[in-house]
Amino acid sequence: MMSTTRISEIAGSLGQEVTLRGWLYNMRSSKKLHFLQIRDGSGIIQGILSLQDAGPELFAAIGALTQESAIEAVGKVVSDPRSPGGFELHLKDVRRVSPSVDYPISPKEHGDAFLMDHRHLWLRSKRQHAILKIRHTIIKGIRDYFDEHGFVLVDSPILTPNACEGTTTLFGTEYFGQTAYLSQSGQLYQEAAAMAFGKTYCFGPTFRAEKSKTRRHLTEFWMVEPEVAYMDLEGDMDLIEDFLCSLVERVLNKHERDLKESLERDIEPLKRVQKPFPRMSYDDALKMIVQIRDATTDAETKAALAIEWGMDFGSPHETELTKKFDRPIMVHGYPYEVKAFYMKRDPNNPKVARCVDVLAPEGYGEIIGGGQREDDLQILEAALAKHELPKAPFEWFLDLRRYGSVPHAGFGLGVERTVAWLCGLHHVRETIPFARTMDRLSP
Ligand code: 4AD
Ligand code: MG
Repeated sequence: MMSTTRISEIAGSLGQEVTLRGWLYNMRSSKKLHFLQIRDGSGIIQGILSLQDAGPELFAAIGALTQESAIEAVGKVVSDPRSPGGFELHLKDVRRVSPSVDYPISPKEHGDAFLMDHRHLWLRSKRQHAILKIRHTIIKGIRDYFDEHGFVLVDSPILTPNACEGTTTLFGTEYFGQTAYLSQSGQLYQEAAAMAFGKTYCFGPTFRAEKSKTRRHLTEFWMVEPEVAYMDLEGDMDLIEDFLCSLVERVLNKHERDLKESLERDIEPLKRVQKPFPRMSYDDALKMIVQIRDATTDAETKAALAIEWGMDFGSPHETELTKKFDRPIMVHGYPYEVKAFYMKRDPNNPKVARCVDVLAPEGYGEIIGGGQREDDLQILEAALAKHELPKAPFEWFLDLRRYGSVPHAGFGLGVERTVAWLCGLHHVRETIPFARTMDRLSP
């Protein structure tokens, strides 16, 4: 086995000669020096090769290397406070492992469609690296949070017989003579799991045939869905707040440099993500939106903010509302009629549901949807009928209300919207390794 040093661990080899195995990220040259940007997946380091050390033949061969050629580089690790990683490599030898001819992504600017078509290569760039590493930290942070707070991981199935979030965004597939649907949400199964284990979560891909081409919608996205027995809406909001603060703190602790340097993200707004988050009713949020609408002189904004009681908020409403706050806000008690069938009808005000949406600041909008679930059998049966959902595939779900029904609540956090917010990205397309949208199924 050849011993290879990883760039992320190069500090341990200061003053020593090491072999790096990776790719040529970029190179600039003068008559007597080559400056190679070498990447190995764990980081990027500058390697310097002089004509004097290399001799004319090797020097010319290195000079002919092209972007993304696979290379093996041997050199001595020296400290260099000016370079981002703090080290550079004084090269002795560079061997080409395999060529890279006409690499399509040059350091110049490319359009979004071109980059998405070349996503399999685009993943190698510095910016994508930062984003996907932060995504990894967020996913690990999610798992650690629930694992450390007494939740049991209970995986929900992907192939399901029924809708969870409305019938208009279902992906169906033939299933031995019947139709199966790709899961829109693992929630219904978490409700069963919470009745068995008390506190559970599932974490996986979910699917929605979204016919909207917005910067927030994917057809395949990852969602974490905790569910807790004997929890009400207030307890749910407490959990959300604590969980989100822990995630943001973890990302700030680990990725300050990625955020500031690779992504040019202002981290001050993230530092303000502290408990408590403002909590407001739909009614109060609506009043604020109407005030903003009436105060604006911009005709386009005014039109986009058209709304009356009973309508769900769209992204213009969420954007304008969140501009008034410096941290995520929790809006609860949306009109019962516009929400999913499983939401708890508020016994004190049957016009609203005991649900909550978390809206991220800086215009990012909804990142979490959740709330208390209907635990009353009759009300739930009526809701199924109202939503024109067939009863038979939900009999098992109704059983949960027949055998020891208790108040329970939970939520779903969309990973991609969270990554977009924390990284400060305009569009969710860069937040997942291979995005799936209405007009994209490849690569
Ligand atoms: O608000 P949603 O639809 O809630 C549910 O699915 C509940 N069953 C969750 C639960 O209570 N267990 O979706 C939850 C979150 C949204 O707030 C958003 O972050 C994300 O999932 N999401 C999407 N992300 C990307 N693309 C889409 N098409 C998304 N749809 C929802
Ligand atoms: Mg929602």
